[in-house]
Amino acid sequence: MEKIRLDKFLSNNTHFSRSEIKIALRRSNITVNGAIVRSGDGKIDPESDEVLINGNVVRNFEKVYLVINKPSGIISASADKTRKTVVDLVPDEYKHLDLFPVGRLDRDTTGLLIITNDGEFAHKVISPNNCVEKCYRVVLDDEIPENAVEIFKNGITLADGTKCRPAKLEIINKTVADVTITEGKYHQVKRMFGVIGLGVVKLHRLSIGKLELPSTLKEGECIELKGNEIYEETLKLTVS
Ligand code: URA
Repeated sequence: MEKIRLDKFLSNNTHFSRSEIKIALRRSNITVNGAIVRSGDGKIDPESDEVLINGNVVRNFEKVYLVINKPSGIISASADKTRKTVVDLVPDEYKHLDLFPVGRLDRDTTGLLIITNDGEFAHKVISPNNCVEKCYRVVLDDEIPENAVEIFKNGITLADGTKCRPAKLEIINKTVADVTITEGKYHQVKRMFGVIGLGVVKLHRLSIGKLELPSTLKEGECIELKGNEIYEETLKLTVS
């Protein structure tokens, strides 16, 4: 792997500012392969050299993929002046990584959301051309008519004339269903049920592709997945 300056490696991969890194260097709090280093100018190999700051190993972050169980009331954005965002919920160690959510869930929607700094991956998951399935558990305000499965299967036309692709509807009970769509139009699921006269009381995303929300992940919690795992699970692609 290409070598980079130690100070650049540290500022790319930790939450320490450049001046805090200088102080740590001066205080002999940084080691490379066990040897104290007092200057940030030297180059290191991020893959083979072990760098410690204040006794903690510095990971070579690059691309990061987090799966969060989004709670209701939080917006799907990187930053907002007044409201809390999903990126505000990630642990501090990831905060310096320019993360953003892959697509959007409405403020009141809960469940699986991927947060990353890999723009190419995000584009692939969101792009309707890739037909990545997104499955939602929906609680409705009235009974689901029997012909709803057929109506969804044929592709619903929304109130404003927008045509949706065929969607899979699996009825769980009278007022609960799982719906799978392969695109992400604005408020799509709510508007699709609106067409058949039903209001969405609760919307929760269960999966993206084969990637399911882990049942042990509590609302607001997140876990990190490796790049190859997440590509394979969502896009059925492997990365080297
Ligand atoms: N469809 C919606 O209506 N809302 C979401 O948050 C996601 C899909």
